[in-house]
Amino acid sequence: MKPHFLRNLAELRAAVHGWKAAGETVGVVPTMGALHQGHLSLVRAAKEGCDRVIVTIFVNPKQFNNPEDLEKYPRTEEDDAEKLAHLKVDAIYVPDGDEMYPDGFSTTVSIAGVTEFMEGTHRPGHFDGVATVVTKLFLQTQADKAYFGNKDYQQLQLVKRLALDLNIPIKVVGCPTIREEDGLAMSSRNLLLSDRARITAPALNEAMVQAAERITAGEDVATVLQEARERVIAAGFIDVEYIELRSARTLRTLTELTETARLLAAANLAGVRLIDNIGVEPA
Ligand code: PAJ
Repeated sequence: MKPHFLRNLAELRAAVHGWKAAGETVGVVPTMGALHQGHLSLVRAAKEGCDRVIVTIFVNPKQFNNPEDLEKYPRTEEDDAEKLAHLKVDAIYVPDGDEMYPDGFSTTVSIAGVTEFMEGTHRPGHFDGVATVVTKLFLQTQADKAYFGNKDYQQLQLVKRLALDLNIPIKVVGCPTIREEDGLAMSSRNLLLSDRARITAPALNEAMVQAAERITAGEDVATVLQEARERVIAAGFIDVEYIELRSARTLRTLTELTETARLLAAANLAGVRLIDNIGVEPA
């Protein structure tokens, strides 16, 4: 059965109203399309946790701080629909840009604290765009549960924060990062890598895994992070925007492994920006 495309808010509301009237629970998986196994793992989790599942596909212009990045972002609607048909989702919501942000649209949802470093500093305005669209999608879908990937760990924390702060009655569920066999975290942006860059790309995760092991073994955090940075550059990346050890719970910087932590990094490879993060447990 082909999933039902909902192309505007009225259609979305009608579908959700019918499900809720029948006492069914609704899950939402927000995406920007170009779906891969990472996205599909969220859909599977949603199918397990809810009676009805909506996948949203919207390449949100407000979260792109670079117009060229927005332009070249992969768009594969037909493939996406086919993948979602296999998983038997109930609906694919593909709102129109003009309906999401009509003339006169003036509201920004802006979150302090957890957005003020890493992706927040390297991509100015990005998290305001994410928070604004996610708030809209939560209110539009009225979903009971929403599924997000650990792949975008900082994003997941800000989404949890906004639901809590704005009293949106939705349970935000975080799901594990899905990787290629060589360790590269799946990402829609991987489609933009040349064959050569694709061979180099796993070096980021390799350096992170090695750094995490050394930190767990008690080595000096600053030294290990510096060496990981050098290793990524030596592998062929153009630059490392950040590689940091932070508290998994609060995202505060850790100079020593005193609690369950997360190692997070962003690096550029041949014009493609890759991010990744992994857990680091004290020994
Ligand atoms: P997008 O990059 O399409 O990702 C949609 C969801 O898939 C996010 O929750 C992301 O963390 C998750 N995801 C991506 N790669 C993954 C992987 N390898 N393993 C597990 N989950 C993965 O994130 C966005 O879109 C946007 O910012 C959005 C939340 C839709 C707002 O526009």
